[in-house]
Amino acid sequence: MTDAKAPAPKPGILDIAPYVGGKSNIDGVAQPMKLSSNENMLGAGEKARAAYANAVSGIHIYPDGRAAKLRTAVADKMGLEPERLIFGNGSDEVFALLNQTYLTPGDNIVSGQYGFLAYRISAKANQAEVKLAPEPDYKLTPEAILGQVDDRTRIVYVSSPSNPTGSYNTAEEIRQLHAALAPDVILVIDEAYAEYVTEPDWQSSFDLARDSDNIVVTRTFSK
Ligand SMILES: Cc1ncc(COP(=O)(O)O)c(C=O)c1O
Repeated sequence: MTDAKAPAPKPGILDIAPYVGGKSNIDGVAQPMKLSSNENMLGAGEKARAAYANAVSGIHIYPDGRAAKLRTAVADKMGLEPERLIFGNGSDEVFALLNQTYLTPGDNIVSGQYGFLAYRISAKANQAEVKLAPEPDYKLTPEAILGQVDDRTRIVYVSSPSNPTGSYNTAEEIRQLHAALAPDVILVIDEAYAEYVTEPDWQSSFDLARDSDNIVVTRTFSK
């Protein structure tokens, strides 16, 4: 029976293509190292295992929503101010919170053609449009991003270094991009793979974020 009154999700929800993880197999490679879904060839570290086992005695209590211990530890380790940090259940949750907080129907986000799918999924869930900047040669340039930005753009997402392209944006490119954006547009710099960059012209955007009201830098434990 067709029920004309069946519950209908908000516009945009049914346009969301489910997230599909990257390939786990490569012809001719016995054990490819895949980093995009939290795999670690070595398994969890000893200290992580011990902390996990130790946490069992406290799982009947709500966790600390402000993540006070973690906040202090991360701030100390990274040289950041604790009050500037926000913790999520993975960067994905932080992207979702940003989209939920800043996007209204008809707004848009801009990311690269090969940008991480989580940016788009929650943008669409908030009835926002997704504008994709072309990445010829698998490299996202400030010019290509700015070519997509319009007066309904609320958030620009750049991953540097990027997955799956492996390219990155130099500190100078990020500075140029930020300088060209209106101050009410948020620039999210997803540094999930920061620990893997060795190129000297890459630099974390932590310092840039400290001096600006419209930059969010994300990092993750998962890589
Ligand atoms: C570019 C990029 N950002 C973020 C993530 C996800 O990070 P998290 O595990 O913190 O949600 C991934 C995972 O594949 C990624 O490729």
